[in-house]
Amino acid sequence: MMKVVVINASPRRGGLISQMLGRIVAALPPECRVDVLTVCDLQVKPCTGCMRCRSLGRCVLPEDDAHCVAELIRACDALIVGSPCYWGAMPGQTKALFDRMVYALMGERPNGMPLPLHRGKPAVVVATSNTAWPFNVWFHQTSGVIRSLKEIFRWSGFRLAGTLQKGGCRKRGALTPREIAKCKKLARKIC
Ligand SMILES: Cc1cc2nc3c(=O)[nH]c(=O)nc-3n(C[C@H](O)[C@H](O)[C@H](O)COP(=O)(O)O)c2cc1C
Repeated sequence: MMKVVVINASPRRGGLISQMLGRIVAALPPECRVDVLTVCDLQVKPCTGCMRCRSLGRCVLPEDDAHCVAELIRACDALIVGSPCYWGAMPGQTKALFDRMVYALMGERPNGMPLPLHRGKPAVVVATSNTAWPFNVWFHQTSGVIRSLKEIFRWSGFRLAGTLQKGGCRKRGALTPREIAKCKKLARKIC
């Protein structure tokens, strides 16, 4: 059974990211096991930068939701991230979650070089912003979100299989038929 982890970085219930992720999940084959995580519902303390996870392979902070998500990601076959653009990047809570999960994403070779733990696994990203198209792409709004996630994927080994960037969300609160079709296409790139 293919295990898919979905990270919803938007705190807006029923917002555009939630709609997009809903469409993608609905288009996944029924035999997939899908875990959908809404970041604003999680309790995640910020990383303290102690670096002990690098040698221990686990986080030494008191048990919270970051530990649980890290275990789900460790065991996943594919990753889907949906993130609104906040100041040209992913929201802080989501960044804090990824900061806490380095050990489940990337190891260290004996020579100190990074060791990707998810080599070749597919990932897709959907991103939204109020900035309208094409400025959301040109001025690193939705493309800024994707760029920051790509950095995580590069060192953890996830292969970016597809993206969907939607700008102008303040005025356009619903997905277009074209965007819905793109969501279905993204699901096929995962499974
Ligand atoms: C704290 C905050 C920062 C934001 N920063 C930006 C930004 O830098 N650029 C932008 O185009 N939109 C910005 N927005 C608007 C969000 O991107 C927009 O509300 C979101 O993409 C809508 O998607 P959702 O319904 O899935 O949450 C910001 C919104 C908030 C709450």
